[in-house]
Amino acid sequence: MKTQRVFVLGGTGFVGRHFLNHLARLGVPSRVPARHPHRCRDLGLIQGCESYPIAGWSEEDLVEAMAGCTVVVNLVGVLDEGAGRTFEQSHVTLPERATRAALRAGVPRFLHLSALGADAESGPSEYLRSKGRGERVVHAASVQGLAVTSFRPSVIFGPGDRFFNRFAGLIRRMPGFLPLACPEARFAPVHVGDVVKALVRAMDAPETQGQVHDLCGPRIFSLRDLVMYTSQTIGRPIRVIGLTDRLSRLQARVFEKLPGKLFTMDNYQSLQVDSLCRTSGLAELGIEATDIEVVVPGYLT
Ligand SMILES: NC(=O)c1ccc[n+]([C@@H]2O[C@H](COP(=O)([O-])OP(=O)(O)OC[C@H]3O[C@@H](n4cnc5c(N)ncnc54)[C@H](OP(=O)(O)O)[C@@H]3O)[C@@H](O)[C@H]2O)c1
Repeated sequence: MKTQRVFVLGGTGFVGRHFLNHLARLGVPSRVPARHPHRCRDLGLIQGCESYPIAGWSEEDLVEAMAGCTVVVNLVGVLDEGAGRTFEQSHVTLPERATRAALRAGVPRFLHLSALGADAESGPSEYLRSKGRGERVVHAASVQGLAVTSFRPSVIFGPGDRFFNRFAGLIRRMPGFLPLACPEARFAPVHVGDVVKALVRAMDAPETQGQVHDLCGPRIFSLRDLVMYTSQTIGRPIRVIGLTDRLSRLQARVFEKLPGKLFTMDNYQSLQVDSLCRTSGLAELGIEATDIEVVVPGYLT
């Protein structure tokens, strides 16, 4: 690979850890700015991965931290707001600041993980609208010479995911039934290994510059199908009670007040559009999509 050192914003998260391990297997060094270095000491166990404590996250801090890197990969994201975190800050302000810092630090390449349905104007939720604004600000930096490619995954699965693991945990705690909001919302779950491969393929492929790739798995499921699949996989039969739209909203209003914010009104609004691809970004990058059956039983059971 031509890439010399990759600067991974959001490297401490679920996708980030898979990405860093993949880079290590390829022998590509990485650097991860860490907000809470004490919470991610294990990153030091990944070959070639350098955790970089960064206090202020100002543009100056980022320019300094990016020195010597040849690619910036932005994996920063939040699913809800609160305790000082906002969608605007994580999905728009920080990526924009990171593009400016990359230009100043002389980093030529920028990869950005967005989300399917991202749309600055007509996204149904603030999550999706802020993701749309984020794509806009990072691609705007191409005018100044930064080579930007972005990716829009459907829900991502793999060891450590928040989707199947969370439903498996819920099913294990429920007494044989599960009230499910938005049961007919549709997804095409994409394997984290395929998302990581897409990032790596694009890294050294200048022809992907300026492109936005939708990333989906090979099959489409409703949320109800995925919960049923989870219950079968962990061997805990459960009756899924699909909630009506009115009850789904009510559940969101109640759950967003509870610790852990299992489900919020903004999450409910995101589920009003299907998370499906218009074109297959994985196929465009020469990657064969992995089915849930191949991977999920391996980490849920
Ligand atoms: N997982 C999915 O199913 C899915 C689906 C579609 C799109 N995506 C997108 O894919 C990306 C990676 O997702 P993920 O599942 O890996 O998320 P994750 O596990 O929640 O990790 C999020 C990362 O973002 C960092 N972060 C959040 N807000 C930040 C801020 N204001 N400043 C600095 N760092 C911040 C976190 O750092 P700390 O460790 O310090 O908190 C963490 O490293 C995100 O952009 C997400 O929106 C994910």
